[in-house]
Amino acid sequence: MKKLTRTASGLNGSIDIPGDKSISHRSVMFGSLAKGKTTVENFLPGEDCLSTISCFRKLGVEIEQQESSVTIYGKGMDSLKEPSDVLDVGNSGTTARLMMGILSGLPIHTVLIGDASIAKRPMKRVTGPLRDMGASIQGNQDGNFTPISIQGGNLKGLKFVSPVASAQVKSAILLAGLQANGRTTVEEPFKSRDHTERMLKAFGVNLEVDGNTISLDGKQELKSDLHIVVPGDISSAAFFLVAGAIVPCSRITLRRVGLNPTRTGILDVLKSMGASLTYSNVTEDGPEPYADITVETSELKGVEISGDIIPRLIDEIPIIALMATQASGTTVIKDAEELKVKETNRIDTVVNELKKLGADITATEDGMIINGGTKLEGAVLDSYGDHRISMMGAIASLIANGETVLENEEAINVSYPSFFEHLNRLQG
Ligand code: S3P
Repeated sequence: MKKLTRTASGLNGSIDIPGDKSISHRSVMFGSLAKGKTTVENFLPGEDCLSTISCFRKLGVEIEQQESSVTIYGKGMDSLKEPSDVLDVGNSGTTARLMMGILSGLPIHTVLIGDASIAKRPMKRVTGPLRDMGASIQGNQDGNFTPISIQGGNLKGLKFVSPVASAQVKSAILLAGLQANGRTTVEEPFKSRDHTERMLKAFGVNLEVDGNTISLDGKQELKSDLHIVVPGDISSAAFFLVAGAIVPCSRITLRRVGLNPTRTGILDVLKSMGASLTYSNVTEDGPEPYADITVETSELKGVEISGDIIPRLIDEIPIIALMATQASGTTVIKDAEELKVKETNRIDTVVNELKKLGADITATEDGMIINGGTKLEGAVLDSYGDHRISMMGAIASLIANGETVLENEEAINVSYPSFFEHLNRLQG
């Protein structure tokens, strides 16, 4: 439990944003599949990414990790061994779903488990197509929920049209496709984050990208002598981007924020709502661009957020909803049904927690409607075990009258262990 109060004199100064969670997971996964040594700088040492390391260690991969520095001694996919223990993905949907793709291609038996939140998240979107490729998969409710057991190997390529724009689904099928006989194609309704495509290319994999369709031939090897520099996670930066815009008398700089265009929907929304953002030290020489971003207290107005921008900001909707309570006019968020299958049902948890603070917010079938210009009042908030709900509450406390109590705030450790240290630093 943590007690927080309104900030006295705005947020000022600068922080280094910790490594991107999606890219950190993939650096360990692909480094473990590759032949050769992979070194990773600015790895995110959050609980989710540590779950990925633990799974690959159980599969026999030698991995050294010290804080944000990781070295993986990959010996190729064929070297992964049948583990004598279950693989525990903790709270991490990315670990669960991408591992399923990898494990489906291997001639070994594995069992995946996770925490109470993972046990409620739908896996059929991945286990369905993986079964079609030839993997034998069992799990609760016909392979939709953990525990899930996989007997993999001998896959055939698949032409898969995904009903959802999900990088986890896309990546799982591509990782299975890499080990299959023949060609695998994944088409999605809107483009989801493309870190898998970018990093596979860096590991020497041939893949073809045509709009929202990605194809690759099976039986390709990953080669490594790579040094991967992980940019800061824009999904973590988002909490402070919004804090800088809504807390009076603020001016903060967030260093090394990843600017992959499939992730920058939050920046487009900040701009269209009227936030003052400036970019410096733009770096575009690696597979993933990044820059320093400075944000200042701004007059904001409500907007509509819908359609193909949704996958580009899906994880940022909790903090965007908080920002909308401080904007003039109404913000409408549509086409975001995927929020229901995140770490919590984020339509419900965002609306519940912001209502406790006095916000004028209504849940809809595919999003929410927020009437802005509300003065928030401190309240007792729960994370429900969801890191992003807890960080939304912590940022809300900076502008709410009186005291805000965060319960179960340790959920934040899955993606941003240094969150409160950074918040304290910016409060001076
Ligand atoms: C992720 C993809 C997204 C995102 C999650 C991380 C990834 O999930 O919400 O936090 O690393 O591939 P979906 O693929 O379910 O949209």
